[in-house]
Amino acid sequence: MLLLNLVFLFQLAQTLCLAAPHRDTFPGVNSPHSGSPSRSSRNKLLLISFDGFRWDYDRDVDTPHLDRMGQDGVKAAYVTPPYLTITSPSHFTLLTGRYIENHGVIHNIWFNTTTQEKKQYYMTQFVDSYWDNGSLPIWITAQRQGLKAGSLHFPGTAATYKGERVKVSEVEPRFYEYNNETDWRINIDMVIGQWFSDKDLDFVSLYFGEPDGTGHKYGPDSPERREIVRQVDRTVGYIRDTARNHGLSERLNIIITADHGMTTVLRNGTVDEIILSKIPGFDFRDIKFQLLDYGPTGMLLPREGMLEKVYQTLRGSHPHLHVYKKENMPGRLHYSSHPRLLPLILIADQGYVINGLFPVQFHNGEHGYDNQEMDMKPFFRAVGPDFKKNLVVGPFETVHVYPLMCHLLGITPEVNDGSLEVTRQMLEPIEDLGSSDDRDIKKDVFIGLASVAGFLAVVFVVTTAYSLFKRNSRRSDVTKEELTAEKCYIKDKELSRSLLSPPALLAPPTLRTLPILLTPPTLLAPPTPDTYIPKKISGRQCRSIKKQILSPEWFISLCCGPQAHKD
Ligand SMILES: *[C@@H]1O[C@H](CO)[C@@H](O)[C@H](O)[C@H]1NC(C)=O
Ligand SMILES: *[C@@H]1O[C@H](CO)[C@@H](O)[C@H](O)[C@H]1NC(C)=O
Ligand SMILES: *[C@@H]1O[C@H](CO)[C@@H](O)[C@H](O)[C@H]1NC(C)=O
Ligand SMILES: *[C@@H]1O[C@H](CO)[C@@H](O)[C@H](O)[C@H]1NC(C)=O
Repeated sequence: MLLLNLVFLFQLAQTLCLAAPHRDTFPGVNSPHSGSPSRSSRNKLLLISFDGFRWDYDRDVDTPHLDRMGQDGVKAAYVTPPYLTITSPSHFTLLTGRYIENHGVIHNIWFNTTTQEKKQYYMTQFVDSYWDNGSLPIWITAQRQGLKAGSLHFPGTAATYKGERVKVSEVEPRFYEYNNETDWRINIDMVIGQWFSDKDLDFVSLYFGEPDGTGHKYGPDSPERREIVRQVDRTVGYIRDTARNHGLSERLNIIITADHGMTTVLRNGTVDEIILSKIPGFDFRDIKFQLLDYGPTGMLLPREGMLEKVYQTLRGSHPHLHVYKKENMPGRLHYSSHPRLLPLILIADQGYVINGLFPVQFHNGEHGYDNQEMDMKPFFRAVGPDFKKNLVVGPFETVHVYPLMCHLLGITPEVNDGSLEVTRQMLEPIEDLGSSDDRDIKKDVFIGLASVAGFLAVVFVVTTAYSLFKRNSRRSDVTKEELTAEKCYIKDKELSRSLLSPPALLAPPTLRTLPILLTPPTLLAPPTPDTYIPKKISGRQCRSIKKQILSPEWFISLCCGPQAHKD
């Protein structure tokens, strides 16, 4: 009888689970809705880029603040930027979750092959059509969905997308000193003190032009680069202190990453430099338009009928130069299909740069190389209320940062090339039970109704299960072990805390909490071997559970778990 009750109520609860419009799904890669929102309580998000911060820059420098951030949050071994590994294209991937051939910001340089006009990085920022090429940056998506967004110096900030700009913004002046630490702090005070605190923005992207500048000038192995990394580290400390001083620590997620790494240029007179004008048979008169002298990649538009000749001339002409027809670019680089890409693409091996007539660039450090090269990989750190603590995760591609950010902000992403599944392991599995402003009242009313019914059902289930459990446990220890082990996924570290903390569920559920409780736990966070241990509960812990019931996780398992009670 009891059993029947239990089964019935369990089914009722499951029905409610299905009825509750939990918006989370299991998106596949390339799913247009990768990373649908689900977080009930939205925290603020600060995305920071330190341009050119290579993944291993903290290895030969003392970085106490970055280290502390790692302990308080999540650190990736490294991340893989999109190819071409340069500033504007890679930053726009962070903002859109799209590979460069899909978002269209293919280079730092804007160019017109008809007029021969070229614009350097700074001036491209004001060419709306260059940025607004079919992909919406996250600011616009957030604003369209009722959030407030801001951006300081981040590439793409100045442009208008489908008639809309990021509402709060600052673009650096024309000749800006990107490495001035005093300026950095003024900007941080503004972003945290004014934008997040006073204006109550939900999302801000914040850009620093270092250690890229120093890496180019002195090379990644220089003492100057180590010094600027110390400055970055102090700045990370300053950012977190400032957030704390404004009472934002518990409401602000911070992601820190970069667009690419840096490598030493081999140019000391002993290497055979790539200079196109010196290649036998190569003639600039065959070329209608060229994009050369910008580091390790070049692009050529040969004159009518000359493509094959130029291609055959350049192919194999230098052991460290690779020449592709645009359509034959390696698929893994995702740098092939956009109409802005010129018909011939030239790629140099790491350490080499592609010169046109003669060398005109004398950087000691360079980037733009194949994103498989370890020297091109940036760092990734995240900290805040939605992130796990002291977790190191494996590498992943930076296209996946966008769906993660949309998830954290609770907004529906645009079509993108990333997947939330890649980064989900970084997130705290339990939804924040705090309140947040409700943007979808109808939905909430529905959820509310479902919630009340669900709560009653669930209370009954628990009580019933408890009696059943009590009986069973008297009958057999094995059954007890099986029951609990089957139904509990308990995060090891938090086992004692969840058992000893006041049972969250004895308080009546709010409109926001029950949908969470009714969401199948697999959708909240699939247990992963390193963070979740399906625990067999000991007799003592069992008694403790019986007395104190119930961690939300246990509760969810009982309510809707995939390993639902078989009867
Ligand atoms: C390049 O310039 C030509 C001539 O002014 C113009 O017709 C064309 O639209 C421009 N292309 C781009 C991509 O701006
Ligand atoms: C992107 O830009 C290219 C050329 O610059 C243009 O042909 C294409 O229509 C643009 N696509 C969108 C969606 O704006
Ligand atoms: C750095 O920025 C501050 C504030 O804008 C300015 O007063 C100072 O002169 C700058 N320092 C240098 C070395 O340019
Ligand atoms: C030139 O650079 C290469 C690669 O960094 C290095 O192995 C070599 O020792 C350098 N030669 C001189 C003369 O500095």
